Amino acid sequence: MANIVINRIRKSFGAFDALKEVSLTINDGEFVSLLGPSGCGKTTLLRIIAGLETASTGDVSIGDKSVIGLAPRDRGLAMVFQNYAVFPHMSVYENVAFGLRMQKAEDARVKAQVEKAAGLLHIEQYLDRYPNKLSGGQRQRVAVARALAVEPKVLLMDEPLSNLDALLRLEMRTELKTVLQSSGTTTIYVTHDQTEAMGLSDRIAVMHGGIVEQVGTPIDVYNHPATRFVGGFIGNPPMNFIRMPVSNGQVCAGSERLATPAQSGGEIILGLRGEAVELAPLPQGLEMKVRVAEPMGSHLLLTGSIHEQPVRVILAASETVRSGDTIGLKLDSKRITWLSPESGKAFPAAAA
Ligand SMILES: Nc1ncnc2c1ncn2[C@@H]1O[C@H](COP(=O)(O)OP(=O)(O)OP(=O)(O)O)[C@@H](O)[C@H]1O
Ligand SMILES: [Mg+2]
Repeated sequence: MANIVINRIRKSFGAFDALKEVSLTINDGEFVSLLGPSGCGKTTLLRIIAGLETASTGDVSIGDKSVIGLAPRDRGLAMVFQNYAVFPHMSVYENVAFGLRMQKAEDARVKAQVEKAAGLLHIEQYLDRYPNKLSGGQRQRVAVARALAVEPKVLLMDEPLSNLDALLRLEMRTELKTVLQSSGTTTIYVTHDQTEAMGLSDRIAVMHGGIVEQVGTPIDVYNHPATRFVGGFIGNPPMNFIRMPVSNGQVCAGSERLATPAQSGGEIILGLRGEAVELAPLPQGLEMKVRVAEPMGSHLLLTGSIHEQPVRVILAASETVRSGDTIGLKLDSKRITWLSPESGKAFPAAAA
């Protein structure tokens, strides 16, 4: 078993708390992404799991054994670094073979594994070259191939696809998912790219300012963000947040009254996914002033305002809305997230 348990990890650099108290369990064979903006502590957490950094307090266990105090090489894991460290004095072949050589694998196994990993990452044609004759993206693929070649039980990857162009990145993403799923490798994958995290992960841990704000399946995190930060970070366009007055526990959306979890008065934030709307005639629909209409081919993206607050919504490509129009929207009430204006936290979803 190669489950990973991260228990109340804190890490301070001087007076700065890079990790404030992080707990997270990754099941055997699971693919979990650490997703969050630059500086939120993703690499620090990964380095602590790998043993390259010591936690200030807290515990990490792999396969139900604490690894605190164990050297990185004794933790039974492979890692791909953010800066794709490849060895400049070794050919690509020897770079990919490195972990296997350390394990004193037989030449035949080394050859077979190197060829397999190189094939997956499309670097077969570079095996004789040295890293200084490769592009950044090619070097990055060498680093991923090196980690995969040892068929590790636990794989830690830090932004492994960041230097690839969009098309290659999409292709590598699919390849990685296929190979890791079939090998049952427990994987922690660091990224700040939410589409990548959504596409690859069994679960996503959304990090922000040294804490994990939410852990859940991609669909769960997308549909039921626990906080305003998560809703705004995940999804393209991000979730819309519209502050609305509450009366008798309800808000008005055009002629419709929507029940909210708020007490009778005050204000509430309506969290709305851009695609959870359809056109409705005014005045029944909720009024939106469209500033810009962008036909994207697959859909129509509208940027404008509702109650003078900025919003982005998505309609079917066939709808004819133009920049400058005022339109009515019917909201899909089942897809609304209600949030507290004070705490930015979501109210628990109403029972369906
Ligand atoms: N050795 C260090 N000394 C002091 N501060 C550090 C050190 N390493 C990291 N930090 C700080 O800790 C915070 C978290 O850094 P970390 O590298 O984990 O971020 P990250 O989420 O991986 O960001 P990115 O997406 O940019 O790679 C940052 O504010 C960073 O400046
Ligand atoms: Mg990082």
